[in-house]
Amino acid sequence: MKLETLVIHAGQHPDPVSGAVMTPIVLSSTFAQAGPGHHKGYDYSRSGNPTRNTLEACGAALEGAAHGLAFASGCAATTTVLHTLRPGDHVLCSDDVYGGTFRILDKVMKPMGITATFVDMSDLARTAAALRPETKLVWLETPSNPMLKVADIEAVCALATKHGAVSVVDNTFATPVIQRPLALGATAVVHSSTKYLNGHSDVVGGFVMTRDAAFAERLRFLQNAIGAVPSPFDCYLVLRGLKTLHVRVERHAQNAAKIATWLRDHRDVARVYYPGLTDHPQYAIAKKQMALPGGMISFVLRGGATGTVAERSQRFLSKLAVFTCAESLGGVESLIELPAVMTHASVPAETRAALGIDDGLIRISVGIESVDDLIADLAQAFDASR
Ligand SMILES: Cc1ncc(COP(=O)(O)O)c(C=O)c1O
Repeated sequence: MKLETLVIHAGQHPDPVSGAVMTPIVLSSTFAQAGPGHHKGYDYSRSGNPTRNTLEACGAALEGAAHGLAFASGCAATTTVLHTLRPGDHVLCSDDVYGGTFRILDKVMKPMGITATFVDMSDLARTAAALRPETKLVWLETPSNPMLKVADIEAVCALATKHGAVSVVDNTFATPVIQRPLALGATAVVHSSTKYLNGHSDVVGGFVMTRDAAFAERLRFLQNAIGAVPSPFDCYLVLRGLKTLHVRVERHAQNAAKIATWLRDHRDVARVYYPGLTDHPQYAIAKKQMALPGGMISFVLRGGATGTVAERSQRFLSKLAVFTCAESLGGVESLIELPAVMTHASVPAETRAALGIDDGLIRISVGIESVDDLIADLAQAFDASR
């Protein structure tokens, strides 16, 4: 079945008891047993819950996976995946990865004896050279956050597989509507379902999908043992949000493509980062592996009459009326932020500078409002901040 059908039906059947068409929210933390150890598949809600299992089946189907595991946040999904490693193991990771992923590797895993190297994975030769004998996991985020660099998923995963390492792709920015990392050779896909999967900025959640039965079994053990599981209500909300995923992502990308072109041609804009622009350095790879260029754009303003570029960016953000200044992304509403002081503040200043995350860099998550209203809002804020 196609994704448009799977988002609505995968894993979902009318409730056998009531006939309810929509998945019931099963809040019970425990389940009756006919006798000790004799239950109908559920004993305790951390280990398994009917609403969560339905969401997990749907998410797995969307990524073309055999196994799906839902978590309490994207970071919980990441942390659980990294707990498959042992002290002495090494992780090779994209360099401008989400700041929270960097923080888990640097501040949580490193003290536990699991080290990481950060490399520009859009450069295949440098990626290959950074593999070490003890590299057990390759973590790829593409398009990257916030610089929107694109790495060749198939080529990077092939490097990892040849090396005997697991490859994990954070597919939060792209979603399965745009790219399918498992079909390109990844061992697992991770999502912050807080973003496009849920799509309405009212849930924090995470996901891991994989075709690898042994890896899934290990994750299933860790999901229960560590216990960072989502509530049944949040699972219901993500299931509900997923039903419109394809429609939303198409509109996000359509609006973003128009805004990116408009920004590129605007006299107040110095640089635009968007994989759909033909002058994007990895435009060819993006075209090859992404069905659409996505809804995220980063850009840098030219300085105003007074102060630094960063000060003008602050002024510009304060003048917007339709865009909301807020962290996160992937909701129906347009959001705007300064990564250096918001989403990527946990990345050391010198690392940010090396990655091109200037203090004035602006990131937008383009919503599904009228693109004319969005462009008019940006235009008036440009004028008001000069
Ligand atoms: C690409 C990416 N991965 C993972 C995460 C972490 O997800 P969460 O905030 O749901 O823990 C985020 C959050 O912004 C993200 O942008």
